[in-house]
Amino acid sequence: MKKTLMLAAVLGVAVPFATWGGGAPENWATLCAKCHGAEGKGDTKIGAKLGCKDLSDAQVQAGLKDDGVAKAIKEGVKSAEGKSLMKPFNQLSDAEVQELVAYIRGFKK
Ligand code: HEC
Repeated sequence: MKKTLMLAAVLGVAVPFATWGGGAPENWATLCAKCHGAEGKGDTKIGAKLGCKDLSDAQVQAGLKDDGVAKAIKEGVKSAEGKSLMKPFNQLSDAEVQELVAYIRGFKK
């Protein structure tokens, strides 16, 4: 009985947290889509200019590692010449970054 109550209490706290805010889809739309496109295809004006890859492409996805994606979001992306292509998004929590990683995986065709 006590265990059931504990579980209910834990779930009661955890569920609102997990669904709090817009989560990855909203973060993607507000922070990332202007360059990477709504569906990650990189088919925006800025995306074309900066050379954004098509994140819905299976080959591009195969070349990405989850921790590499997380690192890109947290530390930004620089060109070979050291020019900043994508700024670091250090305002995002680790949980938000992980949600974005999963969201990006979902772009794969
Ligand atoms: C100013 C435009 C811009 C914005 C905004 C932007 N990116 Fe990027 N991003 C780039 C460019 C340019 C690259 C390098 C080319 C590529 O890999 O597509 C890149 C690369 C990436 C990569 C590939 C990293 C790798 O290891 O190859 C991921 C994943 C990514 N961005 C995710 C995001 C996420 C998530 C957001 C939002 C939180 C975001 N980007 C916002 C321009 C942007």
